Amino acid sequence: MKTTSPLLRDTLGRPLRDLRISVTDRCNFRCTYCMPREIFGPDHAFLPRPELLSFEEVSRLARLFHGLGVNKIRLTGGEPLLRKQIESLIGQLAGIPGLDLTLTTNGALLARKAQALKDAGLRRVTVSLDALDDPTFMRMNDADYTVAQVLEGIEAAQRAGFAPIKVNAVIQRKVNEHAVVELARHFRGTGVILRFIEFMDVGATNGWRMDNVVGAAEILGLLQQQWPMEPVDPNYPGEVAERYRYRDGSGEIGLIASVTQPFCQGCTRLRLSTDGRLYTCLFATEGVDIKTPLRAGADDESLVQTISDLWQRRSDRYSEIRSQASQSRHKIEMSYIGG
Ligand code: GTP
Ligand code: 5AD
Ligand code: SF4
Ligand code: SF4
Repeated sequence: MKTTSPLLRDTLGRPLRDLRISVTDRCNFRCTYCMPREIFGPDHAFLPRPELLSFEEVSRLARLFHGLGVNKIRLTGGEPLLRKQIESLIGQLAGIPGLDLTLTTNGALLARKAQALKDAGLRRVTVSLDALDDPTFMRMNDADYTVAQVLEGIEAAQRAGFAPIKVNAVIQRKVNEHAVVELARHFRGTGVILRFIEFMDVGATNGWRMDNVVGAAEILGLLQQQWPMEPVDPNYPGEVAERYRYRDGSGEIGLIASVTQPFCQGCTRLRLSTDGRLYTCLFATEGVDIKTPLRAGADDESLVQTISDLWQRRSDRYSEIRSQASQSRHKIEMSYIGG
């Protein structure tokens, strides 16, 4: 296969480095900020099976992306562990040399699956957990999953040898502000990297309002009241989380301030949806269909051309222009496009 120039840049000079692949639009949780039950109820039409990219199709695309400069692939969803035989896809992707291969999960199935994921070649894992008390957590996931189930998943991932494990917590005003210090206290000193995410206006169903966002500066303030903290340099250019460490050596946390301090300037991410559409922004309104040419027998060169053209046309920077963006914009749901 011909590899194209590694210098693929978009209109703002950003290279293509990360691919986020959504492997299913289904989830066993109904987080109120992501898949509210009123919308994602029993009658909701999820994608029919033939629409899903097969593992072979995903792997082929992943190799082409790797040839274009992608060095990190994150499997997301929906809940990626709901996709049958996900280990088999991981096994195929793990064969791509030098790739940072990781997955974001809600953790409910992780206790059962951690070892198999590790054996298949998954290198890292990120688990979402928004609170440490069941009343808050269960209200947020709206599907009767308990904190203990997720903690067991995290522990299983530790035993399987994943390191570092990251934990993502979305913080919402008057919903789980109290979880900031509780989560930090729990994960301090365990090697787990806890990251706090500002509540974002993704999709069109989560009832987002600026009033419900707890900004990263406020979160940092809550932590600093308990423990002295200091900033740490990013691990790589364009890292989404701002890093801080406890001065007493108990580890680090991250702040993902996509609302109050947007990081579009360094955004090197492309998203591949479950049904084979490419999205150049989390807040995109339209994707480019790559499944149809793939299934029509397109050769590698023409697929690479489609991807390159798309990236070279890219100008997205939604988070930086949020306040000017049209309110009637039809944004894609995060469970479909991949967090
Ligand atoms: P690593 O640094 O590789 O561990 O991953 P990451 O920081 O990219 O973290 P992760 O993929 O877990 O992303 C954490 C959260 O940041 C996501 O769940 C989103 O909520 C948010 N996020 C990630 N990428 C983007 C992005 O491109 N735009 C915006 N606005 N938010 C993003
Ligand atoms: N705002 C911020 N983060 C969100 N996530 C899902 N929806 C939102 C939102 N509206 C997070 C999940 C998970 C990751 C994939 O994205 O909690 O950690
Ligand atoms: Fe599922 Fe994650 Fe969305 Fe919650 S945030 S509904 S766990 S995909
Ligand atoms: Fe990238 Fe779009 Fe997120 Fe900005 S809003 S960081 S361009 S995905």
